[in-house]
Amino acid sequence: MRLRSGILLVVLLTIFLEVADCSWPWPFSRKHKQNVPPPPPTPQPEPKMSPVIFVPGDGGSQLDARLNKSSAPYFVCEKTHDWFNLWLDLEQLVIPMVYCWIDNVKLYYDKATRTTHNTPGVETRIPGWGNPEVVEWIDPTRNSAGAYFKDIANVLVGMGYERKLNIRGAPFDFRRAPNENKQFFIDLKQLVEETYEVNNQSAVTFISHSMGSPMTLVFLQQQTLEWKNKYVRRQISLAGAWAGSVKAVKVFAMGDDLDSFALSAKILRAEQITHPSSAWLLPSPLFWKPCDVLATTPSRNYTMAQLKEFFNDIDYMTGWEMRKDTLRYTQNFSPPDVELHCLYGDGIDTVERLQYKKNDIAGETPKLIMGPGDGTVNQRSLRACKYWSGYTSSPISTLALQGVDHMKILSHEDVLQYIRTVMQQP
Ligand SMILES: *[C@@H]1O[C@H](CO)[C@@H](O)[C@H](O)[C@H]1NC(C)=O
Ligand SMILES: *[C@@H]1O[C@H](CO)[C@@H](O)[C@H](O)[C@H]1NC(C)=O
Ligand SMILES: *[C@@H]1O[C@H](CO)[C@@H](O)[C@H](O)[C@H]1NC(C)=O
Repeated sequence: MRLRSGILLVVLLTIFLEVADCSWPWPFSRKHKQNVPPPPPTPQPEPKMSPVIFVPGDGGSQLDARLNKSSAPYFVCEKTHDWFNLWLDLEQLVIPMVYCWIDNVKLYYDKATRTTHNTPGVETRIPGWGNPEVVEWIDPTRNSAGAYFKDIANVLVGMGYERKLNIRGAPFDFRRAPNENKQFFIDLKQLVEETYEVNNQSAVTFISHSMGSPMTLVFLQQQTLEWKNKYVRRQISLAGAWAGSVKAVKVFAMGDDLDSFALSAKILRAEQITHPSSAWLLPSPLFWKPCDVLATTPSRNYTMAQLKEFFNDIDYMTGWEMRKDTLRYTQNFSPPDVELHCLYGDGIDTVERLQYKKNDIAGETPKLIMGPGDGTVNQRSLRACKYWSGYTSSPISTLALQGVDHMKILSHEDVLQYIRTVMQQP
């Protein structure tokens, strides 16, 4: 029944896409139940704690590299080096070292295979599979700027949880989208089953952040209902980028300064635009109407339906190719079919549109026109989880936190308290 409603949903959305017209009422704006509090804990004779798996977002995993390059962009750059931490060692993010870093972390798109590869002579790996510490701290030197899931892990430890036993981490190569992360989904299934077995056969709780939420969704969509009922207790999503974000358009247009670093967005753009994950995180056509304007110039607008022209005009058609490769994941919006707690920040200026002064937009830096969201992800994407309440029998609770930004949600006291309360229910 639930499976069928999921299929129906996909069909409905597909039909809608074909007939969509801007004068039509948008079907996703119907009223939803507000902030359903988690049900009170039911007494259990032998409470078992649900083990937790953290699923990080874009930029939220460590990335190691090994070099054996025949050339390097600058004389200061090393050409050979044994395994070292590439993402995110803040010391490498200064000029001129950042140019070496970009050359080591960027990807190249192969239009024939529709896959990406590293710079020749660069090998990369994601360290610490299963270990929560690699997502608690993105910077292994534990520079406070690299703190990630650590406060949530500390809350769990305070409840009696133990790292590596019933707190696990599922890092992945966040540069890539689901189409190039197939092994991650295989490994994650195994990690869930193993974590379940070593914890007295207790179903796991996913705690996901940002892009980690749609990654977890893609994973859950791949599993049978029977498997999910046995192995998955719930998902707690923080600031889930369920339907992408205009920020990804901004990244392709002008790069992003990664908020906290004293680096120019333009420098980092050279690396960021090579990530297929940036293309996967472009606004979803299920939540942005074809006529929604993403960018303006004095003489024309670029609407959602004209994204291809936008990529052409910023002279980066690779972005459009990667969008095509990842769109099938965006367009499958069937529900996760597990208990879902969808928490997100709201009330913070978030880029909604790019405004160019010139008609020729290639290489230009647009002004950012802001709208509602959590500073990184637009409100309509953060709220997209509400859409499933009509299409799944699994409970969905949503909580909007005013003034809590995309990263601060990981350490906000109300969020930590919410997690404590939910996790007390076995
Ligand atoms: C590095 O690359 C060179 C040339 O491609 C190759 O001959 C050499 O064996 C490589 N070294 C290592 C340690 O892989
Ligand atoms: C598993 O069950 C045993 C015996 O009931 C108990 O001592 C142990 O704490 C449980 N372990 C976990 C991780 O819940
Ligand atoms: C561009 O979009 C804006 C905002 O939707 C609208 O006000 C304006 O009329 C549009 N301009 C053109 C040239 O289509």
